[in-house]
Amino acid sequence: MGRYAEAFSQAKDDRESFWLDAAKGVDWEVAPTRALDDSAPPIYRWFPDGTLNTCHNALDRHVAAGKGDRTALIWDSAMVGEVRHYTYAALLDEVSRFAGVLAGRGVGAGDRVVIYMPMIPEAAIAMLACARIGAVHSVVFGGFAAPELATRIDDAAPVAIVTASGGLEPGRTVEYLPMVARALELSTTPPSTVIVKDRPEIGGAAADYDGWLDWEELTSAAEPVAPVPVAATDPLYILYTSGTTGKPKGVVRDNGGHAVALTWSMSNIYGIEPGDVWWTASDVGWVVGHSYIVYGPLLAGATSVMYEGKPVGTPDAGAFWRVIAQHKANALFTAPTAIRAIRKADPDAAELAKYDTSSLRALFAAGERLDPDTFEWAGEVLGVPVIDHWWQTETGWAIAANLRGLEPMPLKAGSPTVPVPGYDVGIVDAEGNALGADEEGNIVIKLPLPPGTLAGLWQDEERYRGSYLNTFPGYYVTGDTGYVDADGYVFVLGRSDDVINVAGHRLSTGSIEAVVASHPAVAECAVIGIHDDLKGQRPSGYVVLKAGVEIEPDVLRGELVAMVREQIGAVATFRDVTVVPALPKTRSGKILRKTMRQIADNEEYTVPSTIEDPDVLADLAKQIGG
Ligand code: COA
Ligand code: AMP
Repeated sequence: MGRYAEAFSQAKDDRESFWLDAAKGVDWEVAPTRALDDSAPPIYRWFPDGTLNTCHNALDRHVAAGKGDRTALIWDSAMVGEVRHYTYAALLDEVSRFAGVLAGRGVGAGDRVVIYMPMIPEAAIAMLACARIGAVHSVVFGGFAAPELATRIDDAAPVAIVTASGGLEPGRTVEYLPMVARALELSTTPPSTVIVKDRPEIGGAAADYDGWLDWEELTSAAEPVAPVPVAATDPLYILYTSGTTGKPKGVVRDNGGHAVALTWSMSNIYGIEPGDVWWTASDVGWVVGHSYIVYGPLLAGATSVMYEGKPVGTPDAGAFWRVIAQHKANALFTAPTAIRAIRKADPDAAELAKYDTSSLRALFAAGERLDPDTFEWAGEVLGVPVIDHWWQTETGWAIAANLRGLEPMPLKAGSPTVPVPGYDVGIVDAEGNALGADEEGNIVIKLPLPPGTLAGLWQDEERYRGSYLNTFPGYYVTGDTGYVDADGYVFVLGRSDDVINVAGHRLSTGSIEAVVASHPAVAECAVIGIHDDLKGQRPSGYVVLKAGVEIEPDVLRGELVAMVREQIGAVATFRDVTVVPALPKTRSGKILRKTMRQIADNEEYTVPSTIEDPDVLADLAKQIGG
């Protein structure tokens, strides 16, 4: 039996010994004697009697082992042309002093702290400082506007917000402070403490706002604090992600399972060992950034590169190759969109020839489907394996992957390879019946999920059960559709719900619809995710005007685009608006979004038998179909 098959069956049949063994990869204050608490299915807890501190595992233990001089974090900003190196000892110092700042403001174990920051080292420092004192961080992506930030503040009820003057996007600065101020106005539970990291190149500082505090001033006067042991089952963070409704889901990650799973994943999935240089080009606002810019590489004792910039235009399509060469990165993890953007700007990879990227051993892609074209191109130009792997905010680490450290397997274009040990993946039809090889259906995972996956949704067990556990009892519903081939390779085809993936960013069409529907000229609307060559998908809106309303389509479009940008954020990339006479519906009034998407994408479709008025669909096909 190969190493993969052995690990997979052990994780399935002898779960306790598999995960207790993996748990030896982290330092415990009190080592767990049990892996799984399965006393209250379908809710499970990992390492119920263990206690530890995640920050200690990410920093202190490496310093204690004599590795304080090793580089922990390299910050490379293509936006300001600066590179900063932090050794493990230096990062520990920064983190323990900022933890002292938080503790000094009365932030304690279990308290929530919202972090709304761009890609600067202080974002990682703030996250680790929360972990150090047992506080629960909730990072909000900088591309979200004030109302989205306010929604998250209201749900998490934080005691503090940590932010910065702003972020830098090509051609513009994004000022965060006015957005934080607006979010606090909108919020029903505004925290009393706001800490601002000043970025002089942007402008806007704590001093501009009454009572807000300056990061530098606080940290220069702060005493470092020691890590606080917490229960393995205590929450480390809440990360909000798009669901099918406008209200985001607060995915809760625990401390123990998370530390064990991520440590295991770095060597077994990514083949990364202590001292290797690892680069994830994502953002700390997404799960990929949480797991693989901050926690994973530091838990593993590797060097993590944190990049502020884009794959193209900062300054050119050679930006990624420059970063790999300059920091001798051994692996890069990014979203397929980034590779497509590079290819579009530089189809012959002429920029690549300017850099020595020989340190690179593999390119990992996730966040959206890696299309076979991009897979082939990247493999050809880079000359290293291109590894698709599939996961979600909820799981926190890969569900399916080609396990480079454990046992590399042949790659198949279009497939993230096989289920990772711990994930018992199945395909079922709408009634929950198991499907066979190559049969397309809902992708489900047999419970319990492995360590490191969501412990629940923040203070909403009912929604957790309703969204993931109730549909097929005994299984977790991924929300993705796909199939498993005869060799056991997983193929992920797309979402079965109203979640869309734009440039690797997960968005809810429902929340965009809610904004569009609030325009006074709009009677009803549907927003669907349609194919986009660069970003994978993009949201496209179809609106029916109220009777008697006259408005130029361009004016309406301009107003709707501005509203979505203001209420959700630039990241929604909402640009397409089409006025239609009516929306196709079922007799029970459900909008036929899937059929609309098939029409817009020029795919074949069948007219659903439940359709209310086939003429509406036929007219729509004439108007929007290719
Ligand atoms: N803060 C504020 N605004 C942000 C932002 C942030 N952190 N990130 C993106 N935005 C804005 C952009 O400036 C842009 O605004 P604009 O409409 O004024 O131009 C808008 O949100 C859309 O951004 P994006 O989707 O990044 O599109 P783009 O055209 O600027 O860049 C790519 C296209 C492909 C280069 C870019 O999407 C990319 O690098 N993708 C990789 C995705 C990724 O890393 N995903 C993480 C999950 S693994
Ligand atoms: P997020 O929670 O933002 O990470 O988005 C998760 C969703 O992105 C998944 O449910 C999938 O729909 C999609 N996704 C992520 N990685 C992949 C992949 N490798 N292949 C196909 N889809 C993916």
